[in-house]
Amino acid sequence: MPDLDRPPLDADALTRVLVHPGGLWRRIDVLPETGSTNADVAHAARRGEPEGLVVVAERQLAGRGRRDRQWVSPPRAGLTLSMLLRPGTAPHTWSWLPLMAGVALCEAVGSGAVLKWPNDLLIGDAKCAGILAEVAGDAVVLGVGLNVTTRADELPPATSGPPPTSLLLAGAETTDRAALLGALLGGFERWYVDWRAAAGEARPVRLGDSYRKMCATIGRRVTIHLPSGDQLTGDAVTVDGAGQLVIRTDDGERRISAGDVLHVR
Ligand code: BTN
Repeated sequence: MPDLDRPPLDADALTRVLVHPGGLWRRIDVLPETGSTNADVAHAARRGEPEGLVVVAERQLAGRGRRDRQWVSPPRAGLTLSMLLRPGTAPHTWSWLPLMAGVALCEAVGSGAVLKWPNDLLIGDAKCAGILAEVAGDAVVLGVGLNVTTRADELPPATSGPPPTSLLLAGAETTDRAALLGALLGGFERWYVDWRAAAGEARPVRLGDSYRKMCATIGRRVTIHLPSGDQLTGDAVTVDGAGQLVIRTDDGERRISAGDVLHVR
């Protein structure tokens, strides 16, 4: 694919749109290449960098996925970025942050996009994006990987999860990376500012309601691979006030805080 179809991001233009006095975003760095933006931002957090740093990479050489997987994307074919947050709310509230990023991402991508709990972005049952949250002391690093113009022959091989896709392949509304990034970060900022003002409570800002509306897992038969290695099958009933997935199994109701979900039917 010629370069013209994958224009580089313009850090100055993004900064003009996203960085304002008193706003959440303080600095937007666009790196031509790095290992992992999550690793870079976690490192910055440990060095004491304040909240509001966003690192975007045009190419990642060691992109990290959930559960020790990799995130692979050709240069400028997608968005790979990490945000540095220091919420200052009680740590038990931080589990809402990756879900909030999922909501903001779903809103940015637009019609056809849904979430698979906890925060894979699906279009038509195929995965377009994933989110990786990592804690570094009192900071939370939120990493987002979104396939934008990736062609079928460039997608990673299918795993046991949903097949990969990109916005281009799925016929999404836009494949303009700068517009998507602006919408994602702008939308996330609005949710985050309200949520933090509510001391990290999801209910007063209706974050849970919005999440549930976008969550395609609710109502599905699911198999969950738990971090312990155990597996669980049941019907996904809802996502509760703590962001946990509520499953009805033959042995009763279970609340799941972490795991890999497979939509069975
Ligand atoms: C997943 O679905 O497994 C989560 C993927 C998260 C990938 C993003 S790409 C930007 C950021 N930096 C990383 O190393 N990983 C996240």
